[in-house]
Amino acid sequence: MSGAVQSIRGIHDILPADAALWFTLEAAATEVFAAYGYQQIRLPILERTELFKRAVGEVTDIVEKEMYSFEDRGGDSIALRPEGTAGCVRAGIEHGLLHNQIQRLWYHGPMFRYERPQKGRYRQFHQFGVETFGVAGPAVEIELIAMSARLWRKLGISGLSLQLNSLGTLEERQAYRQTLVDYFSDHRDRLDDDSLRRLDSNPLRILDSKNPALADLIGQAPELLEHLGSESADHFAEVRAGLETLGIAYQLNSRLVRGLDYYTRTVFEWRTDQLGAQDAVCSGGRFDGLVDWLGGRPTPAVGFAMGVERLLALMQILDCPLRRLEPAVYVVTQGDKAARLAVSLCEELRDRVPRLRLMKDVGGGSFKSQFKRADKSGAHLALVLGDAEADSGQVQIKPLRSDAAQQTIAVKELAAWLETHVPPTH
Ligand code: HAM
Repeated sequence: MSGAVQSIRGIHDILPADAALWFTLEAAATEVFAAYGYQQIRLPILERTELFKRAVGEVTDIVEKEMYSFEDRGGDSIALRPEGTAGCVRAGIEHGLLHNQIQRLWYHGPMFRYERPQKGRYRQFHQFGVETFGVAGPAVEIELIAMSARLWRKLGISGLSLQLNSLGTLEERQAYRQTLVDYFSDHRDRLDDDSLRRLDSNPLRILDSKNPALADLIGQAPELLEHLGSESADHFAEVRAGLETLGIAYQLNSRLVRGLDYYTRTVFEWRTDQLGAQDAVCSGGRFDGLVDWLGGRPTPAVGFAMGVERLLALMQILDCPLRRLEPAVYVVTQGDKAARLAVSLCEELRDRVPRLRLMKDVGGGSFKSQFKRADKSGAHLALVLGDAEADSGQVQIKPLRSDAAQQTIAVKELAAWLETHVPPTH
């Protein structure tokens, strides 16, 4: 017999033990986005490979090395999406959502990159992403950053640092690119292989290099912020002033260049010092050129995406409060009559007590084995119904997680009792 089939490296199952963690983040993000009037868009996982080549850039790591792309049975080149912005823009153009209007959209789901898996870096990972269209002014950057900061507060995530930079317009970046090429070419002998390759293809990414031997050289490189035109500089100053008004601290980081080609002007990244090398938990920026590149009419746009796995790892480290999904109440029975009565009693309680999470034992057996399952379920209370209780119209309430005394209560008073004694958050 051959062995069991294993999952793919870098691609993980999300098991029931982590459901509350995921649910906590998903519910909080959904609520915060709704609080700012953002609408959900659900996008396909498969897109034409061409889309990402045009949007993310042919000479980026994502497109060059990391994309899961294949020919489908009809001969078309298809990719598993490595990120969500390109598909969102594609859908927006295709359905006429972008031109001459303001859109605030969010999406979530799995993304795929053939990266070297390590802690916080996976081949299938999940993002919550937000994209806004139609606002050229800095108000929308400020709103997006405030919205992400609100989400961290809601989740109980503290200690993130906000890195901020401006990449200027595409033209300014192009001019700066030449300045950088000149600078690094003068010091070609000090560059490593990776940077030499990038010198021709994507010189801004040299600034991103983690090689300590290059730190000095990079430290002395010309700064993009000093090469911004006056409109870009004003725009950036307004973004900064807006954040200061809201009391959102940031660090200017002229080395923040981002790994995707579509950014213009403001870029930002929320980082943690708790997760090692994979420290970006949320990143994004303005991409005023992308709608045009993908065949739409020129439309300003800004967005970000957060890495769900990284945020969840951080929430575990910080011991953030989680939503409770386990049952609050577990019903055990003894005797045929009690078992029959319990079925309709449980349905009635779920009807009458808002958001009650109640699990009825279905395994049967002795009280002892039912209580074992009650304990394993995580419930706080057991309701105990035997034939004698069924006859007298009563039920016993037994606390499972405290020393509080057991009590007996009339079945007809049970719904009201549960409503006051079992808050939905329990
Ligand atoms: P990104 O920086 O490539 O940007 O990814 C956004 C976030 O996804 C990262 O900050 C990180 O938390 C998470 N992430 C990326 N790769 C992995 C991985 N292999 N494993 C786990 N987490 C990962 C984008 O994708 C842009 N589309 C963001 C954006 C939206 N810009 C404008 N709008």
